[in-house]
Amino acid sequence: MFKTLALWVLGVFLLLQLIQIKIPEPPKHIDPAKEIKAPKKIMSMLKRSCYDCHSYQTKMPWYGYISPVSLEVKSHIKEGREAANFQEWGNYDEAKKQKIYKGIVKTIHFRMPMPMYLSMHKDAKLTKTQRDEIAAWAKSHIKEEAY
Ligand code: HEC
Repeated sequence: MFKTLALWVLGVFLLLQLIQIKIPEPPKHIDPAKEIKAPKKIMSMLKRSCYDCHSYQTKMPWYGYISPVSLEVKSHIKEGREAANFQEWGNYDEAKKQKIYKGIVKTIHFRMPMPMYLSMHKDAKLTKTQRDEIAAWAKSHIKEEAY
């Protein structure tokens, strides 16, 4: 009985591995000049806490290849890069940059980095002070007064 159940679970798990989503391949040549420019302190926080989803420098964890978790992980990377890729910054027009700066101010205290990600990446945790610093930096780039 237990054996049959275990085999079923294993079978379903193996079948699940056939479902994978593809993240678009990063371009062959990534121009370092296009990367966002920020003070060193901000840059190191972005790299540590945001780059897994918001750049091409994704460090994929082992479970990032195992379905069904991989579906979640890869879609975050795909959507994260679409929302803001800090290595594509130089290719963004001013409107997109403004949208991202505003998005950072809006999300840095609650939604970003994603809480689920933080539960698996302790080293990406940001303190309240660090979040305030990132928000202040983003705010300083927002053009209009009303946001
Ligand atoms: C685990 C992946 C992941 C990490 C890490 C992450 N993000 Fe995101 N981010 C996403 C995804 C997915 C979206 C698009 C869906 C959404 O808005 O929730 C997004 C959207 C955004 C947006 C647009 C939000 C809006 O509503 O305008 C901003 C700005 C952003 N992220 C900033 C950051 C910053 C800054 C960090 C680091 C402090 C960070 N993110 C870390 C996955 C991530």
